[in-house]
Amino acid sequence: MADKRITLAWTGASGAPYGLRLLECLLAQDYQVFLLISSAARVVLATEHGLKLPSGPLAAQKILADHLQCDSDKLVVCGKEDWFSPVASGSAAPKQMVVCPCSAGSLSSIAHGLSDNLIERAADVVLKERGQLLLVVRETPFSTLHLENMHKLSQMGVTIMPAAPGFYHQPQSIDDLVDFMVARILDHLGAAHTLVPRWGYDQRAREKE
Ligand SMILES: Cc1cc2nc3c(=O)[nH]c(=O)nc-3n(C[C@H](O)[C@H](O)[C@H](O)COP(=O)(O)O)c2cc1C
Repeated sequence: MADKRITLAWTGASGAPYGLRLLECLLAQDYQVFLLISSAARVVLATEHGLKLPSGPLAAQKILADHLQCDSDKLVVCGKEDWFSPVASGSAAPKQMVVCPCSAGSLSSIAHGLSDNLIERAADVVLKERGQLLLVVRETPFSTLHLENMHKLSQMGVTIMPAAPGFYHQPQSIDDLVDFMVARILDHLGAAHTLVPRWGYDQRAREKE
């Protein structure tokens, strides 16, 4: 089994570019990525990025591997009810999982342990195995229910990372904003990147000039 394995779920919240960029960066860092895509995520991806993915996992995998020009061995797209996928069992699942973007609906299902599709099951597995789960939640405003679900999961050790990019790195483009969020996610995963300058170091270097 490869050392660097991770589960990435795309759900139907706005923010498909975050999910795509995160996938690209993880593959570039030689991770094997088990990618789970909800039906709503496919609608959002087509709406926000113009990329239409079929529901069949193998066909989606081929399109994404071509799109990202990556080694298709490293990218494993799993079907919605692929219960035989490694991510469905604590005996084989990667210890790290990111849901990016994470819809309020998936947040709720995960908080309540529904396990009714592979995304919910994979998150439940990471929780029971006490692995690392990151939810990049996107909604505004948050209802009390959303906040309660986030609070509940946070108390269980889940990292709640709202898709809320900062502006202090003086972004010049949407890509810069996307990279801000993806950089923070990669930091939490312990994955190397050089997407944005690190706070403090860049300013000090400028002052020395
Ligand atoms: C273009 C588009 C944008 C959406 N944006 C959001 C969003 O930002 N946050 C959210 O919670 N739901 C959003 N939704 C609604 C979810 O996709 C919907 O609740 C869906 O049932 C979520 O299912 P999933 O969690 O299984 O992907 C959006 C839907 C569409 C089509």
